[in-house]
Amino acid sequence: MPMVSMRQVLDEAAKGGYGVGAFNVNNMEQIQAIMEAARETKSPAIVQASRGARSYTNDRFLYHLMMAAVELYPEIPIVLHQDHGNSPETCKSAIDMGFTSVMMDGSLMPDGKTPADFEYNVRVTKEVCEMAHERGVTVEGELGTLGGIEDGHGADVDPMSHLTDPDQAVEFVERTGIDALAVAIGTSHGAYKFSKKPTGEVLVMSRIEEIHRKLPNCHMVMHGSSSVPQDLQDIINKYGGQMKQTYGVPVEEIQRGIKNGVRKINVDTDSRMAITGAIRKVFVEHPEHFDPRDYLKPARAAMQAVVKARMLAFGQAGHAGDYEPIPLASFAEYYKQQPVAV
Ligand code: 13P
Repeated sequence: MPMVSMRQVLDEAAKGGYGVGAFNVNNMEQIQAIMEAARETKSPAIVQASRGARSYTNDRFLYHLMMAAVELYPEIPIVLHQDHGNSPETCKSAIDMGFTSVMMDGSLMPDGKTPADFEYNVRVTKEVCEMAHERGVTVEGELGTLGGIEDGHGADVDPMSHLTDPDQAVEFVERTGIDALAVAIGTSHGAYKFSKKPTGEVLVMSRIEEIHRKLPNCHMVMHGSSSVPQDLQDIINKYGGQMKQTYGVPVEEIQRGIKNGVRKINVDTDSRMAITGAIRKVFVEHPEHFDPRDYLKPARAAMQAVVKARMLAFGQAGHAGDYEPIPLASFAEYYKQQPVAV
């Protein structure tokens, strides 16, 4: 099937009461790991690329790798999503390249670092909605600011200082016309999220419940949602790594979010850790090896295992065959019928 709109995948997830993991990629092995996990679990797949990933991979390589995934996994609905677009121009270039979903992160200025004000965020996000919806492409916006820096993107603020305000969220969704809202609830990008297992004081899941009460039909997105599992930290450190003890977002907290309107869950760090642990292990146990396949194969398998575990935990498993893809042109028609955002 052709690549599908993220809006369709999230609408279906809302109907079924489950969440869908959105996994970041930078290369062929990561795309293969996600697609194999999707096939194993019969899951829809959201593959996302940051600006950094697009420049590392080169758009043409990324596009053709994704076309290979579409050809080789015809039974899987696949979304290609721009993660953290920093400007309307970035989102436009993604749409021109064939992405079926874009994130306009207007919570930060185009430098990807400086927190932006609300009116700026509304203006750029609405501009992207108009451009993307004309072509049937889904738009994710963000309100509030996450902690941590990823691929050079992030304000590195105290994540508690910029949580999403529920009343402002209502205004933001109405004025922009977005399909999905990324919320700030105390998470950060990267491995170092919490210094101990998080309580409700630092991982404010209650904020998601409040927003869901005010916006029951809005798809919410949890960023910075890697669980940073202890076993992956241990593997990395056992084989010469130097990760400091850290804690991520427990899977059961994500499941609580899914019960309250979270439909997309962003995971990157867990995949990176799985890959790094597997490669370190081969290097230590087999210093005589020099064929990249000797370490890339176990690396790919380790990422597949973590993605599979998340697909099962988020509830998306078994749902790949639930629906036929709606063409983007039909989504464009649908958006035309919607009241114009003010
Ligand atoms: P993690 O660093 O927790 O994997 O978050 C990834 C993310 O939110 C990408 O946008």
